[in-house]
Amino acid sequence: MNSLQLAQLLTQKYKTETHKPKNISRNQNYLTPNIRPTETYIYQSTRATLHSNKGSILDISSMTVNTILGQNDPWVKANLIAYLQSDRPSFLSTRFGSEYYYKTARLIAKHSFIDNPVVNHRQCNGSDATELAILAAYNASSKPHKTLISFYGSYHGQNLTSYFVSDLQRHNIFLVNNTQANIKFFHPPTNEIAENQILENIHHLRKFTFGIILEPIQVNNNIYTFSQRFLQKLKALCDQEDIALIFDEIQTAYGWLGKMTASEYFNVKPNITALSKGITSGFGPLAAIVANKKYQEIPYGTGEKTNGADIRSLVASTAVYQRLLGIPESQIPHNLPDYLHQELSTGLLAKVPQKSRIITHYTNKIQKTFSPKDLKITGLLLLCGLTFTDKSKAQKAYQLLMDQNIYIRLSANTLIIKPALTINDQELSYALEKIFITLKQILPHSQAPNIPKPATQQLKPHYSHLSTLF
Ligand SMILES: Cc1ncc(COP(=O)(O)O)c(C=O)c1O
Repeated sequence: MNSLQLAQLLTQKYKTETHKPKNISRNQNYLTPNIRPTETYIYQSTRATLHSNKGSILDISSMTVNTILGQNDPWVKANLIAYLQSDRPSFLSTRFGSEYYYKTARLIAKHSFIDNPVVNHRQCNGSDATELAILAAYNASSKPHKTLISFYGSYHGQNLTSYFVSDLQRHNIFLVNNTQANIKFFHPPTNEIAENQILENIHHLRKFTFGIILEPIQVNNNIYTFSQRFLQKLKALCDQEDIALIFDEIQTAYGWLGKMTASEYFNVKPNITALSKGITSGFGPLAAIVANKKYQEIPYGTGEKTNGADIRSLVASTAVYQRLLGIPESQIPHNLPDYLHQELSTGLLAKVPQKSRIITHYTNKIQKTFSPKDLKITGLLLLCGLTFTDKSKAQKAYQLLMDQNIYIRLSANTLIIKPALTINDQELSYALEKIFITLKQILPHSQAPNIPKPATQQLKPHYSHLSTLF
């Protein structure tokens, strides 16, 4: 009996109806309080819709950061099932290569927007990737008294290095003496004068500075977006002064800006990029750094061995790249329904402009209805923030939306809209309309303007013929 036959015998076990958690309030006590869910549980999910004991919930924030393809993407799943059904290796240490080990590295490198790229992909989380990026930069530098530059409002994760280099995590530094850490923070600039001042200050520190780490968009800092002008000047300064420019693209890569990376969107080539989350769209643990060859030496004992990339995550990741970029005709199975064939061959990045038009329609309406004293729109394209002046109102809006089964993310004063690319136009419009109506309940407003809606595409029977794939 092979695993497919065995799996068929187990099908009943995973049938949706039989998959409701029991004794929720008792079982919650098995979890630490910070990861204890509410009593809402999800028993089925497709794209951006989650079916729960509280009804259907629309996820407008891609599970708060990472599922660029939403839930249960059939292409990724089909590839995983097919891979698992084979007798190819299920795990390998980095001593051995295999097709997907190389294939994923090639894809990450090719779409990284870095010159002469090398990849370290690892079965780890984003925090470890930012740490490794800093280590690679540190290792390559021969400067004395090495200093790293970071920005206030930054968030780079949850390990010791991240605590030191993220402004928002510095309160977590404990156990270690931080007097040795040579990290300099700058305020994210709010205008060109401030930008030039920072560049001048960095110039003063150039003899000691080995690296600068930043998120092109600081999602946890009310979606603060660095200007293209600043990033380009910063890059020129880094090139001139032999400083490694590190982009933490854990929030910005994989499609929300209509490109594979923010680097590509801003047309700025960093020396090292940290990636994770969207890389498998939630289908497995994987993070990576891509670095210019100059930064390829990683000290012995880090970024290797048991952290070798999990093969299933590599398979998932290549499928995610294919979904975003489009799949060559020769690799698409025959006899798929036309709409599915078209979506697989075109790739989802092509859908970003249309979805962005829908979001812009509502953000224009919001800007015309509410005072900028109460609410500002931040972010770009499908990574968009509603930043409240009054944090308690942001919390109220969040709660009201959750009560209406719209799952949005709240970070600091900002409600974050970051939908999966598989959300359909109707779902997106529906959620944005609910957000607009909710804002009207909370904030003083003028008459809503009559702005013509962009044409939306008809609701498609998306993957309703999925079973024909398998
Ligand atoms: C910008 C950024 N960097 C790093 C991280 C850390 O990633 P992880 O939580 O996978 O360790 C995150 C997580 O949200 C992030 O948003």
